[in-house]
Amino acid sequence: MNTPTTERLQTLPKAEIHVHLEGTFEPALLAQWAMQAGVPMPRPVERLFEFAGLADFLEFLDWACALAGTRDRLAQLAHGVCRRLADDGTGYADLIVNPTHWPAWHGRLPEMLDALDSGFRAAEADGLPRVGLCISLLRTQSADAAVELVELLTRLRHPRVVALSVDGNEATAGRTGPRFADAFRRAAAAGLRRTVHAGESSGPEGVWDAIELLDADRIDHGVRAIEDPALVDLLAERRIPLGICPSSNLTLKVYPTLAAHPIDALRRAGVPVSINTDDPSLLRTTLPREYALCAQHFGWDDAVLRAVAATSIDASFADDDTKRALHARLAAW
Ligand code: ADE
Ligand code: ZN
Repeated sequence: MNTPTTERLQTLPKAEIHVHLEGTFEPALLAQWAMQAGVPMPRPVERLFEFAGLADFLEFLDWACALAGTRDRLAQLAHGVCRRLADDGTGYADLIVNPTHWPAWHGRLPEMLDALDSGFRAAEADGLPRVGLCISLLRTQSADAAVELVELLTRLRHPRVVALSVDGNEATAGRTGPRFADAFRRAAAAGLRRTVHAGESSGPEGVWDAIELLDADRIDHGVRAIEDPALVDLLAERRIPLGICPSSNLTLKVYPTLAAHPIDALRRAGVPVSINTDDPSLLRTTLPREYALCAQHFGWDDAVLRAVAATSIDASFADDDTKRALHARLAAW
C-alpha cells in the first residue's frame, strides 16, 4: 500500500479539536520578546523547547505566556494560529486557552478575550479558518475559582467562547472531578460545551470522572482509557470522542513509542478518535505530520483517514454550517 505523505494529508479537509494557544509560540518570537523585556531565557533558543515531561512543560508555558502582555501581541498570536491552521489544511479549530497561564491578563478576562477575538476576526477577514475558544480551568484551581470563571463566562456570553475546559497535570493535582462538578454543571446549564483533559496524566479513573462527574462532551487525550475494557465499551456506545495527540504523548512520555500507543486499538474498538497536535510549536509538529505518522505506522488507508477526519469535524464545537461545508469538502477528497 502507498502510505500517504504529509503533503497529501495537508489536503485532507479536517478540524482540530485539541490544540492550546499556549502551545503555538514560535521560538524566535519568544527570544525576541524576552530580549525586549530583559527577561532571561530558561535555555538557549536552540534548546528552548526541550522538556523533561509534563510538569516541566507546564512551567515553561507560564514563562512564555508572561511575555504576551499587550493586546497587539495576543492579536498577533491569534492571527498566527489561524495562519498555521490554513497551512495544515485545517478548516476549523476549537482552541484551548487557560487564563491562569497569562499573568498580564489576570483579572482582565474580558479584555483578554477581546484582544484574541480581534486577531481571529482579522484572520477570518483574510480568508483564514474560523476558531472557537475553549476556556480552560487548571487542574490545581479551587472549586470556588472554577465557579467564578463559569459565572464570568455566563455573564459575558462572548460569541467566540464555545466551551469550558480543564487541563493541567492530574498527577500533581490528584483526583479533581468532584471539585469541578459544580462548575461544569453550571457551564452546561449556561449552554457551554464541555471538554476535559483526562487519561493522560491520570489513568482510566480520570476519564470515568470526566464522564460521570463533569458530563464531558469530549475527552482531551483519553488514551489511558484503553486500560479499562468497560470504559472503552462506554466510550464506543455513547460515541464520546477523544482528542488524541500522538506526538505529544511520546514527547511528554505517556508512551515510549507509537507501537505502544493505543490510538488504533481504540479506533478498532469503535471509539470515535480524532488526531490533534496539542501544542504544535512547542512539540515541533503539524497536524498533517500527525496524520502521516499514524497512517504510516498503523497502515491506515484513505477510508480510515477519511473516517478519522470526519470524526474530527463531528466532534468539534463548530456551528452546523461550518460542519456541513467541511463534510462536503471531505466527501470530495
Ligand atoms: N496544557 C497544554 N498542554 C497540555 C497537556 N498536554 N496536558 C495538560 N495540560 C496542558
Ligand atoms: Zn492538551
